[in-house]
Amino acid sequence: MKRTIILLRLTLPVVLILSITMLACRSYSTDETNSANSTTVKTNNACINCHESKGLILARNVQRSTSLHSSSFTFQGNAADCAICHSSEGFTERIDAGTFEISADIKNPSPINCRTCHQIHKTYTSSDWALTIDTPVILQLAGDTFDWGKGNLCANCHQARPSDVPQAGGGNYEITSTDFGPHHGPQAEMTAGVGGYGDKYTGSSVHYQGIADGCVTCHMIDDTYGKESGGHTMSMSFQNNESPVDYVAACIECHKDIETFDRNGVQTEIISVLEELRILLVAQGLIDESGSGIVGTFSSEQAGALWNYRTVEEDKSFGVHNPGFAKFLLQTAIDALK
Ligand code: HEC
Ligand code: HEC
Ligand code: HEC
Ligand code: HEC
Ligand code: HEC
Ligand code: HEC
Repeated sequence: MKRTIILLRLTLPVVLILSITMLACRSYSTDETNSANSTTVKTNNACINCHESKGLILARNVQRSTSLHSSSFTFQGNAADCAICHSSEGFTERIDAGTFEISADIKNPSPINCRTCHQIHKTYTSSDWALTIDTPVILQLAGDTFDWGKGNLCANCHQARPSDVPQAGGGNYEITSTDFGPHHGPQAEMTAGVGGYGDKYTGSSVHYQGIADGCVTCHMIDDTYGKESGGHTMSMSFQNNESPVDYVAACIECHKDIETFDRNGVQTEIISVLEELRILLVAQGLIDESGSGIVGTFSSEQAGALWNYRTVEEDKSFGVHNPGFAKFLLQTAIDALK
């Protein structure tokens, strides 16, 4: 009798646990059977098309991680004024709203990533690689229309920030910030040949007129040098024994024998004229020896000269983007100061 009770005491819980487990397993396997219907199987295949495929995502992710798009990321990702270009959430919010502003700071911003530029996880098909925006861009600085194929995506951010550009004959001009100028990325204005101080530029913008997808064609050639140049690195050069090498793969299509970006000495010339202008700006008290701006009251011609200097400097291509316009801006500035 005692033995039977002990046996029951021991077996009852075991039986109970076993039955509960079996019940649980039954309902679990029922779910499995249900989820093995055709919709789920299709979804899984759809996922695998992107997530299990020869570096489709990984390769781009490694490239992107080396680009300033993701590596350089501080308070500018949060602050509403800056986040519209410096974080993925800020950018997405403003292009969805079709404005150039967002309502509040971003609390947990992400750097520029796949979703900033592509329609990820919308249809779960290859059409998700479509760009988030590629329509012509109305530039904030002076309302010019920028239209350069897929490069339109880039111009949403790589444009001058709105500002009161000095006008010739405009009298006194108050420079109130040491950062006076078009901000760090005026490549849209530079490539299209608009937005400087002085007369309207009527010369040719050779690359804007002749290269189909603009920025994307040169900066994202689908032929990468490791994670250093091409593709999603956005970078135009790589390091060889610690010296930079110009990655001319994208240029060769049109300039067969090109070896460096300094084609026909264009960059050498721009760098030397920039230096000539810098010396004049220092002499007239607009910038100091270190290149920092100086606040104060100047003539609109002087302020305009500094504006053009900053545009060419911040464009960072030393003439490649638009050789004719870069020379024009610098010459206009030098004439204004003399
Ligand atoms: C058209 C390509 C594509 C398809 C199809 C696709 N994904 Fe993604 N998925 C991406 C990309 C791109 C990312 C972002 C990768 C990154 O930022 O590292 C991503 C990210 C993810 C992540 C990481 C978390 C996140 O949201 O960033 C998960 C989880 C994920 N996908 C699941 C799925 C599932 C489940 C499916 C199928 C239902 C699917 N994906 C289908 C392209 C795709
Ligand atoms: C219209 C878009 C836009 C807005 C708004 C914007 N930025 Fe930028 N910013 C850029 C782009 C594009 C670059 C990169 C340009 C380049 O590498 O040539 C950049 C670069 C920078 C850099 C790096 C400079 C360098 O040369 O390395 C700093 C710092 C910066 N921005 C600060 C700010 C701050 C602070 C704000 C807000 C007050 C702000 N930005 C708002 C587009 C923007
Ligand atoms: C700054 C914008 C930007 C970011 C960030 C970005 N891409 Fe792209 N991506 C582009 C552009 C522009 C193209 C070229 C589109 C074209 O030629 O149709 C492209 C092309 C691609 C293609 C080829 C698509 C096709 O139809 O052939 C893939 C795949 C791709 N990107 C994946 C990614 C992944 C994965 C990420 C995140 C790790 C990413 N991209 C981040 C702008 C971006
Ligand atoms: C959402 C805004 C945004 C978009 C869209 C964007 N950029 Fe940028 N880009 C930036 C910012 C911001 C930086 C600088 C980050 C910093 O210095 O803090 C930058 C930096 C760069 C740089 C500097 C070099 C490097 O290592 O990253 C290049 C080149 C560049 N972008 C090219 C492009 C091209 C080409 C496209 C279009 C395919 C593009 N960008 C689209 C905002 C953007
Ligand atoms: C003709 C090819 C070409 C086109 C088109 C082009 N770029 Fe560039 N870009 C260059 C080259 C080459 C350099 C680098 C020059 C050097 O390093 O000497 C450069 C430099 C830059 C830089 C500075 C990179 C750095 O590392 O500091 C940015 C940012 C940039 N370009 C963005 C753009 C944007 C945005 C567009 C479109 C509006 C564009 N580029 C169109 C060739 C091009
Ligand atoms: C789709 C064609 C195309 C591509 C790609 C292209 N260019 Fe050009 N480029 C032209 C044309 C057209 C001209 C004007 C005619 C000429 O100078 O041959 C030009 C002119 C130039 C000039 C001015 C030359 C002078 O003597 O005044 C420079 C510098 C230049 N390109 C550099 C580059 C660099 C660097 C790249 C690659 C990063 C590049 N180009 C990519 C078509 C292109």
